[in-house]
Amino acid sequence: MPTKKILMIFGTRPEAIKMASLYYALKDRSEFNVRVCVTAQHRQMLDQVLNVFNIIPDIDLDLMKPGQDLIDVVTSVMVAVRTVISIERPDLVLVHGDTSTAMATATTCFFMGIPVGHIEAGLRTYDLHSPFPEEFNRQVVGKIASLHFVPTKLGRDNLLNEGVKDSSIFITGNTVIDSLLWLLNRIEASKELKTTLYNRITSALGFDWTSDKFILITGHRRENFGDGFISICEAISDLAKKYPNVRFVYPVHLNPNVQVPVVKILTNHTNIHLIKPLEYESFVCLIKHCYFVLTDSGGIQEEAPTLGKPVLVMRDVTERPEAVLAGTVVLVGASRDRIIANVSELLDNTKLYERMAHSHNPYGDGYACKRIVEVLETIG
Ligand code: UD1
Ligand code: UDP
Repeated sequence: MPTKKILMIFGTRPEAIKMASLYYALKDRSEFNVRVCVTAQHRQMLDQVLNVFNIIPDIDLDLMKPGQDLIDVVTSVMVAVRTVISIERPDLVLVHGDTSTAMATATTCFFMGIPVGHIEAGLRTYDLHSPFPEEFNRQVVGKIASLHFVPTKLGRDNLLNEGVKDSSIFITGNTVIDSLLWLLNRIEASKELKTTLYNRITSALGFDWTSDKFILITGHRRENFGDGFISICEAISDLAKKYPNVRFVYPVHLNPNVQVPVVKILTNHTNIHLIKPLEYESFVCLIKHCYFVLTDSGGIQEEAPTLGKPVLVMRDVTERPEAVLAGTVVLVGASRDRIIANVSELLDNTKLYERMAHSHNPYGDGYACKRIVEVLETIG
């Protein structure tokens, strides 16, 4: 049987985490010739993931420029991916989610007549400005893809309502759960790795994170840039004063729009710990040990419920309403007062905390990649 050439193209931290388990699932099968091209829309944060999962890309476009805007990324990805596709001539290109890399790659494939499979398809807010530009990006990829791998039934319903053919949609669960469980098993299996991670995180934080109560914070959404980030930081600063016995751990995204307000407003608080982005293994340990998560991230809304942690999401809408309905995630927006009120309530109200911590994870069982591979095998 001739092998099918599959080219995976991704560029940011979350895409790499969610494509890593799929890469290995495809690589195990002799009927596929899998190649990886990274755009490196992110550089350091992508490399952290590639190292953890031991993935050496076949092609590294190394496109990141500090302070790049959306047009810089989209145009540079399109031009570079055009060359890659011309040389590689893949049978199928797999893209993930809603980044500029995913949209620009899918668009280039469309112009060049190359079929696209979309991993984490069908997520929607139907508000083109929130998240911006991700809602636009994923709708564009959804128009182009011929295979749509949706994490949950809701994604399928969204695509059907948009007129996508039922036969091209596959409910698989989210590959993030596969990657997360794989990593947890690896940590669990190695005493040595546990010790290394404990020492690494302790030296980054300067306190015993396995015993002290802490809230884990991340944030990077474009729609929160400017006033949104200022009010988020002011809320965290107020909360740190109100709860001196709680620690606030914040690995700060490398985007300068995030770095500048966070460092300016949150430096010099004894119980706020600003640290560099952590490699995935350490970050997963922190999710496991935190009291709860305060974030505007997409992926963490899926991971934290899997680890039994409540999540307060600093956004007004989410394309992941499943965990909100399940009761583990609450949307709190980016206003200072609402963040303070919701964090305080979750710290003070044990019953609420227990309810949120014991709801179930709606995003998958760790077999998403197996299902995707089975589809790719059967479509010939
Ligand atoms: C991108 C994605 C967003 C995703 C997020 C994950 C788009 C439009 N947005 O947003 O969907 O949720 O990644 O984090 O694709 N930087 C570094 N080193 C890095 C990474 C970023 O220095 O390793 C800095 C650079 O100055 C870079 C800037 O961050 O120019 C912004 O990166 P960019 O990929 O344009 O946007 P994100 O906000 O990270
Ligand atoms: N993450 C990480 N180190 C960190 C912060 C986050 O490895 O310091 C992981 C996190 O577990 C999740 C992913 O990065 O899998 C989320 O990335 P991000 O929030 O940047 O993007 P989004 O998911 O919002 O697209």
